[in-house]
Amino acid sequence: MKLTVVGGGSTYTPELIDGFARLRDTLPIEELVLADPAADRLELVGGLARRIFARQGHNGRIVTTSDLDAAVDGADAVLLQLRVGGQAARRQDETWPLDCGCVGQETTGAGGLAKALRTVPVVLDIAERVRRANPNAWIIDFTNPVGIVTRALLQAGHRAAGLCNVAIGFQRRFAALLGVAPADVHLDHVGLNHLTWETGVRLGGPEGENVLPKLLAEHGDAIAEDLRLPRPLLDRLGVVPSYYLRYYYAHDKVVAEQRTKPSRAAEVAAMERELLTMYGDPTLDEKPALLAKRGGAYYSEAAVDLAASLLGGGGSPYQVVNTYNRGTLPFLPDDAVIEVQAAVGPQGATPLPVPPVDPLYAGLTANVTAYEDLALEAALRGGRDRVFRALLAHPLVGQYEYAETLTDQLIAHNREHLAWA
Ligand code: G6P
Ligand code: MN
Repeated sequence: MKLTVVGGGSTYTPELIDGFARLRDTLPIEELVLADPAADRLELVGGLARRIFARQGHNGRIVTTSDLDAAVDGADAVLLQLRVGGQAARRQDETWPLDCGCVGQETTGAGGLAKALRTVPVVLDIAERVRRANPNAWIIDFTNPVGIVTRALLQAGHRAAGLCNVAIGFQRRFAALLGVAPADVHLDHVGLNHLTWETGVRLGGPEGENVLPKLLAEHGDAIAEDLRLPRPLLDRLGVVPSYYLRYYYAHDKVVAEQRTKPSRAAEVAAMERELLTMYGDPTLDEKPALLAKRGGAYYSEAAVDLAASLLGGGGSPYQVVNTYNRGTLPFLPDDAVIEVQAAVGPQGATPLPVPPVDPLYAGLTANVTAYEDLALEAALRGGRDRVFRALLAHPLVGQYEYAETLTDQLIAHNREHLAWA
């Protein structure tokens, strides 16, 4: 099996390599290609990757290259984890929306739109090259904003699924709180990427006993603390929102916090410098502890699980992925991309049925779906007016004066990445 990671020079890659090494029986990789335009990073990351494989006795071959077409040639699966414009562009996304009192975040709100506009054309170009090299290859998209990017891929007819680590993070956390194995925890997970709620926590599988009420009663404080949301809110909802819902449920509070501290991008950039220095140390042969301070915990396990199932191997039968709605959430269009539990196999992902969704969550989900639709339009076709429409539709922007100002800011800060601007 040949697997290619586009954005393989990411400082996140050792997390992935560690998972590939540990879980090699689930996903037997013969050739792993790390592709990245940044040759200097690739050398550092590739060196550590080879040492991690060697230490863990994985005899797969690791190839590094900046030649994308060579990288995807003959690949069975291609993982996309790129960041157009790097942390510098992210830093902008996290900063200029604050001028209008709007949250500055890399995937949520106006910053997320900027990221979508920079990213969608690049990802579609890569996907086209993957398809030319091997029409049967699966594309696993980690590239944010995952919902919009996945929809762009599916709409262009690619064999693709979108993936995020929020669900697997909850699964691991709840399993630890309940004292059971992660594989025994099945989440009723509903919504859109970075806009989800855990409406049930079942033991053993989709038909298992729902222990969410018990989990909240016994561990509500710990869960609320993780999410930085008040415990009484969780008790009143009776479901567990993802930490991205804090940008909605505590929007103004988050904005006030963001105004007083450095951006996450600045923090991450500092960590990346440190990590790259570590990766250059020829005695390091495992992922460093510092990597745990990044948001990507368990993403390697989610990737292995999904790739194994899509390539016909032994991944978990049900996995949380981003895929077409196709009637699963009846209040959304069929071609919306949702993030839910799905049966996953070589034919792709088929969402499991979802019980009726409380209007409290359905309303916001529908609103953000409409935004994502307009965001994709803007990403594919460009133009100031399309950017404005997407911002006006976003529940965290919504007012025309803000939408006008933020449209100008978005374009001004991203001109070099926008072919039409
Ligand atoms: C989580 C999200 C990812 C996001 C990451 C950011 O893992 O699911 O989509 O990219 O956090 O983490 P960072 O360390 O870059 O802030
Ligand atoms: Mn994510």
